[in-house]
Order: sequence, then C-alpha cells, then structure tokens
Amino acid sequence: MSKDRILNPIFRNKLMTADEAAALINPGDNIGVSGFTGSGHPKEVPQALARRIAAATGRGETFRVGVLSGASTAPEFDGALFKVNGVSMRLPYQSDPDGRNRINSGDAWYMDVHLSEVAQNTVWGHYGKLDVALIEIVAILEDGRLVPSTSVGCNPTFLDMADRVILEVNSGLNAKLEGMHDIYSVAQPPNRQPIPITKPSDRIGEPYMRVDPAKVVAVVETDCPDRDTQFSAPDENSRRIAGHILDFLQYEVKKGRIPANLLPLQSGVGNVANAVMAGLNDGPYENLTGCTEVLQDGMLDMIRSGKLVCVSATAVSFSKEALVDFNANLDIYRKRIILRPQEISNHPEVVRRLGVITMNGMLEADIYGNVNSTHVLGSRMMNGLGGSGDFTRNAYLSIFMTPSLAKNGALSCIVPMVSHVDHTEHDVQVLVTEHGLADLRGLAPRQRAKLVIEKCADPKFRPALKDYLARAEKGANGQQTPHLLGEAFDWHLRALRGESM
Ligand code: COA
Repeated sequence: MSKDRILNPIFRNKLMTADEAAALINPGDNIGVSGFTGSGHPKEVPQALARRIAAATGRGETFRVGVLSGASTAPEFDGALFKVNGVSMRLPYQSDPDGRNRINSGDAWYMDVHLSEVAQNTVWGHYGKLDVALIEIVAILEDGRLVPSTSVGCNPTFLDMADRVILEVNSGLNAKLEGMHDIYSVAQPPNRQPIPITKPSDRIGEPYMRVDPAKVVAVVETDCPDRDTQFSAPDENSRRIAGHILDFLQYEVKKGRIPANLLPLQSGVGNVANAVMAGLNDGPYENLTGCTEVLQDGMLDMIRSGKLVCVSATAVSFSKEALVDFNANLDIYRKRIILRPQEISNHPEVVRRLGVITMNGMLEADIYGNVNSTHVLGSRMMNGLGGSGDFTRNAYLSIFMTPSLAKNGALSCIVPMVSHVDHTEHDVQVLVTEHGLADLRGLAPRQRAKLVIEKCADPKFRPALKDYLARAEKGANGQQTPHLLGEAFDWHLRALRGESM
C-alpha cells in the first residue's frame, strides 16, 4: 500500500524518508503535533527527530523543541522525544512516564491547558509562532484534501497556523475512516457565530482537512497501527462506583429531571470511567447519546449493543480487541461516531446547550467539593486536566469519581482541603466513591462536608474527617467554609513523609 493513499501529484512530489523530513525541523522550533490518547500521532518522523536530537546532544549541541498537541500521544512521540530530553515546553496534556519525569524534575516546562482553548490560544499567538505542523493522516485526495486519522485534536488549526507542514500518511490505519470526521472551524471574536450543534449527531462541517500545499515541506509514508490501550476488567471498586452512578441516574429519571434515555454522556479516561460505561450497557437504557472527548471500549460496546445511537468525540482510544472490532465494522461505526476538532467536541457552548452528563476521574476531593485531578500531593504532575474542565464547568450534571483510598490504603482520596484545585466547589455537583454518592446540588459548604464524609470517605478516615470538621466549626475564623489552616495540610505532609494520612 503506498501511492494510492497519496492521490495528488503535488503532495506525491514531496515524498521523502522520515529522516529527511526530520532534518527539516530546527532546534528551537515549536511543533504542533497530531495525536490524542494514543491515537493519530505521527509514528516515524518523531523517532527520526529523537535520533537527530540525541546525535546533536552527543556533539555537545543544544537541540530542543516546543510541543503543542491535541492531548497525550504515545511512546513513538512523547516517549522518544522526552527520553532524549528534547522537549523544552509541552502542552496541553500528556501521560507518558518519561514526560512525567522530565516535567516533575524541572527539565521541561509544562502548561496544563483546557483542551477546548488550545486552538484559539494558538491562533492568538499565546504559545509563540508555530513553526511546524507534524500531522498524521489517512490519505490525500486528488484535489489535495486530507482524510483525518483516528483523532482530530487541533490538527486543522495547526495546519492553518504553521509555517511548514510535514504529513505522515499512514496506510496502517483503515481507509474506511474517510467520512467519520466533521471538520468545522470557529471565527475569532468579534466575528464568532453560534456553533449550530443541537444534538450530538449533527454534522456541521466537512469530513476533510485542508492545507496550503505550498507550506507542505514533506510527505512521509508510514504503515503503523495506533498504540492500543489496555483496559483492565472492572474491579470491585469500579463496579460499585458504577452501581452508585446508575442508581443515581435512575433516580434522576424518576424525578423527571432527565429523560429516560438520559442526556448526552461524557466519559473521562481510565478504567473507572470505562467500567461505568459497562454498567450503563447492562442498564435499562435505550437510545443513549454521547458528547465526549475520547471514545473508549465502553462506549464502543454500547454502540455494538445498540444502546448508544450516536456519539461525538475528537478521538478514539481502544484496546487491541476493540480495535479489531472497530476496523472490521467501520461501515457501521462511521454512522454512529463523529470525530470533531477538540475545539468543537469540548466547546463550552455545545456542552451547555446539550446538557451533558459528565463523569471524570480524580485524584482527590475535599470535604467541600473541590477536586484535584492532576497533582499528586500538591506538586507532582500526573497527566493534566485534559477536557475535564471544559465538560465539568458547563455540564448539566457534573460527576467526579475515585476509589476512596490510594496507595494501598495509606492515602484518603477525601481530604479536608485538596493539595491542588482543578475543579472548584462551584462546578462539582456529585462525588462518588465505592462507598457511596454525595449529591452536592443545593447544599451549602458545611452541609456538603457532612454528606461527603458520610457517603464517600473510607470508614478508616471518617472519624478523623468528622473530628476535623467539628473542630473547624468551632475554631475557624468564619463559618461559611470552616478550615483549620494549620491542620488541613498536615494530612498531605504525613503522606509526604510516607506515613498514613
Ligand atoms: N494521591 C496520590 N496518588 C493518587 C491518589 C491520591 N489521592 N489517587 C490516585 N492516585 C494514584 C494511584 O495510586 C495511581 O498511581 P499508580 O499509577 O502509580 O498506580 C494513579 O494515581 C492513577 O489512579 P487510578 O485510581 O488508577 O485512577 P484512574 O486511572 O482512574 O486515573 C486520574 C485518575 C485522575 C489520574 C485520571 O482520571 C486523569 O488523568 N484525569 C484528568 C484528565 C481527565 O479527566 N481527562 C478526561 C477529560 S475528557
């Protein structure tokens, strides 16, 4: 499989090897790269670039690049470049172990950005000039339009804004992806118009991306599958969390606050989120829809079972088995899945209009409902907040979930005060652990605190949390959100010393 994926002669004339293409990237360049949760990232040019960087570093030269992406990539990109310490600045999300180490050791700057905002910030120049767009695609049509791959992310914006464009045309990805995408761009203020999406199945753009051929400096052919994401079978805690959420949604339906087919669902990354989808698949629902960021195995199962009739996202991220099924049945899935730029899939206007039910993982929550999704014990970056803020802040119903304990029971995921805040008490409506669900809507902070401790904290930490709250209610300098500031962080300090919280 080669030239039949590159049907336009102008682009075909720019064919070269990954090493030749990587030689067109200069030290200090800012690169806008495709890729989202292990899908749709370039596979060969970044590895060639990493070899170049390693060679330059070996000669005592400095060779580092800034990297903007849709979200996390995979070992072929983030892994390769971070290993050789080739990344000076990274945004807006990553989950690579080498990347995490470089960020936490201070080797690389990291900006943790709401994913819906990356495209406009790039256009407005907040990240500096974009020198190179390095974008994986599935094919180039005769008229030069580009067939996007398994993620869209910020690719249309990177293609528009970069001085130079390098395309990886990956014949390892299914050509039947053509038609699954919906590429639409928003104008900048003051000319911005409403985004005309009123249901997840609306298509408002075209299935192709476009690029000025004059900017394309290299086209590289590859034949590599995406990384597959391994999901573990839902464990007991995940099943219990899923059970609490399902009971709650049923209650909301009974109360008439949401329709019988619920509202569009957003499901975050990870095993717990995937388990909740598995629970919904077994539940009494029909005609569900999704307005999410990443489509994982759980939602694919729901499409296969007929429960989920349509879902919009910006990327797919599947296990090996799900990937086989996805590729074998793309003609069916193409009618049910729409992949949009992340600026649209996560857009506050769309999320608010559709009334999305959002379900995201967290590291810890405090008794008042503030949530930390990103920083372990205040300072160490885990992954980033991704789209969790885009969805949570604008949700009809925002849910955060976690097992109540971490690190073999030494840490409580419910604490007096979170060590870092990503989502504030003003945006978080529901907290769930394996022990129960706290519906915080309509409650004042002290009412919330009692409920969160009772429903969500592990019994082992409940007495200490109750004691903290009772003493704060007496000793704090105010009764709106009472804290004992000197004590609140003792919980985290004990953890830092390796003790139980
Ligand atoms: N303190 C310290 N470490 C904690 C912790 C806490 N309170 N809670 C969890 N952890 C650790 C776990 O021990 C585990 O560490 P390990 O990898 O060394 O084993 C790790 O964090 C992941 O925890 P896990 O329970 O497996 O959760 P998960 O896979 O559901 O991920 C997040 C949880 C918060 C890391 C993940 O949901 C995330 O990155 N969220 C932010 C991005 C997001 O929400 N994206 C979706 C938007 S559309």
